[in-house]
Amino acid sequence: MTTSQTVKPYKNTDADKKQQVADMFNNISGTYDFLNHFLSLGIDIIWRKKAIRALKANKPQRLLDVATGTGDFALEAIKMLQPRKVIGVDISAGMLAVAREKIAKKGLQDQFEVALADSENLPFDDGTFDAVTVAFGVRNFENLEKGLTDIHRVLKPGGKAVILEFSKPKGFPVKQLYHFYFNRITPFIGKVFSKDYRAYSYLPESVAQFPDGKQFTDILQRVGFYHALSRPQTFGICTIYIATK
Ligand SMILES: C[S@@+](CC[C@H](N)C(=O)[O-])C[C@H]1O[C@@H](n2cnc3c(N)ncnc32)[C@H](O)[C@@H]1O
Repeated sequence: MTTSQTVKPYKNTDADKKQQVADMFNNISGTYDFLNHFLSLGIDIIWRKKAIRALKANKPQRLLDVATGTGDFALEAIKMLQPRKVIGVDISAGMLAVAREKIAKKGLQDQFEVALADSENLPFDDGTFDAVTVAFGVRNFENLEKGLTDIHRVLKPGGKAVILEFSKPKGFPVKQLYHFYFNRITPFIGKVFSKDYRAYSYLPESVAQFPDGKQFTDILQRVGFYHALSRPQTFGICTIYIATK
């Protein structure tokens, strides 16, 4: 998928997108949770809950959270679904260190494990998981189709993938307000609070280039999911995708 391949965090290096993304999240891991909730005015918490709720009827027991970062999506899944086991994978050791602190603090070591691994080459056998979740991760994949294909591979037949990702609001005046906030305010606040001045300008750039709505569900079907639907949230700022293997 060329669109997600071309937008990289840094301009002054030849490193591939995956390395740049890992470096960027290592740089911002300490301020990531605070800025996430601050910049979204706490709405990300509502989106996460709604996305996880889509799995409630399935009662998944083995769940994989891809691009788990500091673990918030997986922790929400544990709270709402009480699965036997959740594994979170990510390419950023810094983000996983924050996740490990939370796991230890909550005493969830038996239920929630995290590991350094790449979504495009998941270290699990075919059909291992009842459900796979990804929040704000797919946009960062170096090769989107490869990542989604591997997510499909590790799901059991009938298993569900729930993907939460930013999308582009289309209607006036939300589209205009969103552009101003996302292109002006977010990079400014991100620059002030995080140690990485590029991270929060990469954010709107990567969203602008990323497929959303039908474009994204078409890709999900192309990589093998037999059914895929999208549920836009908050005027289309964010979308929950639900795909069934
Ligand atoms: C915006 S954060 C989202 C973290 C978390 N899911 C959340 O909801 O807060 C994106 C995460 O995707 C991870 N990531 C990017 N590409 C990845 C890949 N190919 N495999 C695994 N993780 C990846 C990054 O390291 C980062 O931690």
